[in-house]
Amino acid sequence: MNFLGSHILSISQFDKNDVKELFRVADEMQPYAQREKHTRVLDGAILGNLFFEPSTRTRVSFGCAFNLLGGQVRETTDIKASAITKGESLYDTARVISGYSDVIAMRHPVAGSVEEFSRASRVPVINAGDGPSEHPSQALLDLYTIKKELNIEDDFDGIRIAMVGDLKYGRTVHSLCKLLNLYSNITFTLISPNELKMPEEIVEELRKSGHEVIETEDMESGLENNDTVYLTRIQEERFEDRNEADIYRGRFRLNQSIYTSHCKPNTVIMHPLPRDSRAEANELDNDLNQHPNLAIFRQTDNGVLIRMALFVLTLGVQDKVHESSVEVKWYTEKRFK
Ligand code: CP
Repeated sequence: MNFLGSHILSISQFDKNDVKELFRVADEMQPYAQREKHTRVLDGAILGNLFFEPSTRTRVSFGCAFNLLGGQVRETTDIKASAITKGESLYDTARVISGYSDVIAMRHPVAGSVEEFSRASRVPVINAGDGPSEHPSQALLDLYTIKKELNIEDDFDGIRIAMVGDLKYGRTVHSLCKLLNLYSNITFTLISPNELKMPEEIVEELRKSGHEVIETEDMESGLENNDTVYLTRIQEERFEDRNEADIYRGRFRLNQSIYTSHCKPNTVIMHPLPRDSRAEANELDNDLNQHPNLAIFRQTDNGVLIRMALFVLTLGVQDKVHESSVEVKWYTEKRFK
């Protein structure tokens, strides 16, 4: 893929070299994300950060990533506060906002909506989640986290990953499966209620590529022998009848005792967040908060690096970031170490 000026809509656009290049640039963003230096490389640029669905970390980290590169952010945070509720089309919204922005990040509850929006946009659009369909920047930060946690160079061949929870509506696992499909000989153990299984077309695609895919409702056996276990929340907002989500909430939970009994000692624990910490859900228990293999907050930190790298490559400033960099003047606790 030629990143320059491209929309980033789906993981299907990426090949292994694109991922390698993105991760190389993400590594270079470390001193900025860690507040050792700052850069003004995007001074004067504007990010249109359009979130027509709730978000904490994706919205804020896209904004922080742009600010850390010296750009400004303008955003909408609620579909009710946008003119879409007055009947404005995605086409018109895209024409308007792309006149105000140099790049746009967009989240919307309908699958395919970001792609529709991008066709009318005059600037690159990054999919920040379109309904149950895809969340490409999340998958990229997840794979980057796996790379760091497992100390992998560039080759993810042969890794073993368990994905747990709502695999039907969880867009992060859809995108992560598509991304891992670029590599070879991966073992996917897909642990979900039968009604919330990974979409068949994704499973077929993985099997066609020669990966081993195990689908099970038995969490305890499914957890055995993985390098990474990736938990997900029941996506209640995707159910036509939200009460139906109650049937599945709390069915699969990882806590210290289950981890110790069923996971091999170095298994990395991941979750795209938000985790549902209500007592009836609690798919990832707080009793693992101090566990050294719990990578969830390293994942969120990595999100800034990956989103900085996407902006740098899309806007073509990868060779100019360090030119406009200076040491920071304020106190910075080394909170990323
Ligand atoms: N992982 C993720 O998409 O989180 P937010 O919904 O908070 O953006």
